[in-house]
Amino acid sequence: MKKYLATSTFVCGLFFTSAAFAADCTTEVKKDDLTDAQVQALYDCIKSELREGYASKDGALTKEYTGWKAAATLPAAPGVHGKRFLMTFVNDTGFDEYVKFSDERGPMPVGSLIAKESFNLSKKGKVRKGPLFFMTKVAAGGDADKYGNWVYTAFSPKGKAMKIKQAFCHGCHGAFEDQDALGYPVEEYRVSGN
Ligand code: HEC
Repeated sequence: MKKYLATSTFVCGLFFTSAAFAADCTTEVKKDDLTDAQVQALYDCIKSELREGYASKDGALTKEYTGWKAAATLPAAPGVHGKRFLMTFVNDTGFDEYVKFSDERGPMPVGSLIAKESFNLSKKGKVRKGPLFFMTKVAAGGDADKYGNWVYTAFSPKGKAMKIKQAFCHGCHGAFEDQDALGYPVEEYRVSGN
């Protein structure tokens, strides 16, 4: 694995020199001025390291989600979630429903799982790994009733389960009343639904 990482860093270095990026996933371009291609390049540079970090502890979901389908075409930084760049994935149970991006939906199917990778840029333009966020749709009738039957979880960039408060996450998500508490990726970067 180490060998693989070293190779990918090397490839990053080669690739980014021509596009104002250095080998360690940095950019001189200000966050708001990044083009789509530059955001994509930063994501490509950090992706394998980000995923290795998430997967480095025991959590099953942190390894599983990379097999799910992406619901966004590019990580966007909409301002929420600590102004990080966010990239969304949904499991098979929830994907078709999620990518309708409906603003008048019923509840998502029980067993739907949604993951959101995150990363940010430091003031010096270096990519910073962010947490991995999850929402899991559970059956009605349990503790999650007051949170729309969603269970919220998050893992640090080192794969450690973070202590989060359901009320904190749902305090914001619950505002998307007609979307079953889903915020959806920025419109411009949604995959085309059915
Ligand atoms: C400040 C408001 C806010 C808070 C607090 C918040 N979220 Fe979000 N979340 C959003 C918005 C808005 C989106 C959609 C933005 C995007 O994907 O570009 C989103 C998207 C998500 C998604 C992708 C599914 C979706 O809604 O489309 C997951 C998973 C998620 N958040 C998990 C969490 C977890 C876990 C917490 C608590 C640790 C949390 N969120 C706290 C606003 C918030």
